[in-house]
Order: sequence, then structure tokens, then C-alpha cells
Amino acid sequence: METIRFGVIGLGLMGREFGSAAARWCHLPDMDIRPEIVALCSKTLPEDTVRWFTEHFSTISQVTGDYRELIMNPDVDAIYCAVPHHLHEVIYCAVLDSGKHLLGEKPFGIDKRANDIITAKIVEHPECFVRCTSQFPFFPAVQKLCGMIEDDAFGEIIEVEAGFLHSSDLNPQKPINWKRILEYNGEYGCMGDLGMHVCHVPFRAGWIPRNVRAILSNIVKERPDGKGGKVPCKTWDNAVLFSETENTATGETFPMTIKTQRIAPGEKNTWYLSVLGTKASARFSTRNPRLLQVMGYYSGEQVLCEIQTGQETAFRSITGSIFEFGFSDAILQMWAGYLYELKNKKPMNKFAGCVLPEETALSHRLFSAALESHKNRTTVAL
Ligand SMILES: NC(=O)c1ccc[n+]([C@@H]2O[C@H](COP(=O)([O-])OP(=O)(O)OC[C@H]3O[C@@H](n4cnc5c(N)ncnc54)[C@H](O)[C@@H]3O)[C@@H](O)[C@H]2O)c1
Repeated sequence: METIRFGVIGLGLMGREFGSAAARWCHLPDMDIRPEIVALCSKTLPEDTVRWFTEHFSTISQVTGDYRELIMNPDVDAIYCAVPHHLHEVIYCAVLDSGKHLLGEKPFGIDKRANDIITAKIVEHPECFVRCTSQFPFFPAVQKLCGMIEDDAFGEIIEVEAGFLHSSDLNPQKPINWKRILEYNGEYGCMGDLGMHVCHVPFRAGWIPRNVRAILSNIVKERPDGKGGKVPCKTWDNAVLFSETENTATGETFPMTIKTQRIAPGEKNTWYLSVLGTKASARFSTRNPRLLQVMGYYSGEQVLCEIQTGQETAFRSITGSIFEFGFSDAILQMWAGYLYELKNKKPMNKFAGCVLPEETALSHRLFSAALESHKNRTTVAL
């Protein structure tokens, strides 16, 4: 078993998800490479969070409030970085200059300028294995849908709809935090937060937007500041992007709609993908995570099949294949995808890897064009 020693920068929501995935690596009996958490860094070091890590991971030998100290640690091979978006550029570039591998969180730079700088730095460091997170392709139903893409089962693509819908910001009394402040979250707003998740499968499929018309909404314009007052909230809550998209395998184009919404009444954490084709169609939503709906044409009839999925995961798990799959299972699979590709230099299958740096760059071109499209009320070429 090969061990990759990890430093974690950012111990919030996602830093701990990685900790939990690393702690149950025994769930994946076929893996011959595993992560070991040896160092932690966070700007603030809340006692309960640090204790949670140090009590569960006896391998941790460094806890610091300065990311530069962690990066200089010679006992760290790779870094998982989950910090606010305005820090991606400086910390990701520093990690690469140290020669360590990186799994960075989306959107991989607060804006296109920052992403361009990170991308150039990656080119300078071919020795570093660099990917951006994306866990939704690892839902077994999505893996099956992706298998249909690989098998060219859809025929000519008629239309694709993809989205990620929350209602986490529906309550106007929810106090502001960094994800609702331009300086830390970025001008993309909800697109920066949710968009890479939505674009990953279409981009990996070779479905490339050639232009975009976007409508962006700022619905809650001020929020409590948590100190008894109110402050302006200028980030985009919702975005609807409509793109003429090229299937690069065939040269044909089709319409693709991408929705990223933080204020989608009735939705909690809904990631969905619907592909309509001339030979078959399929759709998946995390609202019903075991279900893959597939439609084919047989003897002149449209036949809708409902496939129930369980733990038919890309990376075999000890959980019986009939049992349900969830968010933290997807995070564990994503980590397996990152480490498998680090070791084997290629993903287990085309759709069982994390986001490529080039795919983050394409997402930044799309979201920057979407900002321009909304501002000028025009369709913008990519
Ligand atoms: N993959 C997913 O499903 C998913 C979900 C949520 C967030 N994210 C992404 O993860 C990243 C972090 O989001 P989060 O929800 O975990 O945020 P969070 O606010 O919960 O945690 C952020 C962490 O960064 C630390 N931090 C801030 N400044 C720092 C600095 N200068 N040096 C070191 N640490 C610093 C904070 O102390 C905190 O521990 C973002 O890029 C976000 O888009 C991904």
C-alpha cells in the first residue's frame, strides 16, 4: 500500500469531509494507495476542530495558522486546499512552487485572471499532480449515465440540461458570510460556488459551449451583518446560462442550459443532469439519488425505464451493492479518483477522475462570458 502524506489547508466544511473520507479508507478494499493526514493549517484554529482532527488522526505532527509553514514541511507530499476563493491564487501557486501535489477546491481562482495565473503555474510544474474537486460524477447513477455517453448510446444529442439548485439563501434573515461577499467569493457569485459541479460531466463529455446568453439575479440585496445591522449583499444568487454547445465528437451543436441557483424554492441540494438524444435519453437528480431514468425507442414506442442503483461504485466499496449511496460516499469515491489517477497517471474510467485544470479554465471562460452577457444583454462567444 502506497501512502501519500497530506497537509490540509482550510479546516471548514470541506476540510473535515476529507478527514472523514481518509478515516474510512478501509471502505475501499481494492485501493493500493491511501491518504495519510500529517499536517493542518487554518487561519483560525478553533479548539474543537483541531481536537476533532488530532483525536482521530494520530499521524498529525504539524498544526499551524500559516500556510507557508505547512507548505515548507518536507514530510508533506500533497495538499488539499479548501479555503475562500480570494485565496486560491496565492495558496495554490505557493503549493505548486513547493513541488507538492494539489487537490484544490473550485472555482480554482476567484476569477479568470486568477485562474490564468494558476494555470500558468501548473505548466511550470509538470512534476505536480493537480486536480480540482468534483464529487457528483461518482454517484453510481451518474457513472451509468456517463457510461452511456462513452458508449455513444444517445445518438445525436438534442438537448442537455444541467444544474445545481439550493435554497440555502432563501431566508433573507440569514447573516452574511464570505460566500455572499464579492471580495471573498468573487463576481461570479453562485456560478463560482456551484458552476464547476454542473459543468464537469458536460465538459468531460466533450460538449463545449461556443457562446452564452446569461440571466443573473441578485434577489436578496442586503443581509444581517451578524452584529445587529444590515450590509449590502451584492453577489449573484441565481444564474441561468443558455449555450449553443458543440459535441466535439461529431461537430454537431445543440442547446445546453446550465442553472446554478442559491435561491431555488423547494430545493435543498439538487444536482441534476438530463441528456436528450435521438437514440436514447437519460436523466438523474440527487433528489432521488438511486434512480436513473433512461428512455429508449423500441418498435416505434418510447419506453421509459427506471434503473435503481445502489453501491455500484467506480471504486469497489465494502458496502453491499444494493445499499444506498450518499454525499459522503461520493466524497470518498472522489478521493479514490484523485489518488488512483495520481498513481496510475490516468483515471479508472473517463468519468472517474477529478476536474482537469483545462476544464477549470473552460469554466472560467464560460462564467466570465456569462457576466458580460448579462451586463450587455447580449450573446457572448467563448
Ligand atoms: N466540493 C464541494 O462540494 C464543496 C462544498 C462547499 C465548499 N466547497 C469549496 O471549498 C472551499 C472552502 O469552502 P468551505 O465551505 O469549506 O469554507 P469554510 O468557510 O467552511 O472553511 C474555510 C476554511 O478556510 C480557512 N482559511 C481562511 N483563510 C485562511 C488562510 N489565509 N490560511 C489558511 N486557512 C484559511 C478558514 O479558517 C476555514 O477553516 C471553497 O473553495 C468552496 O467553494 C466545495
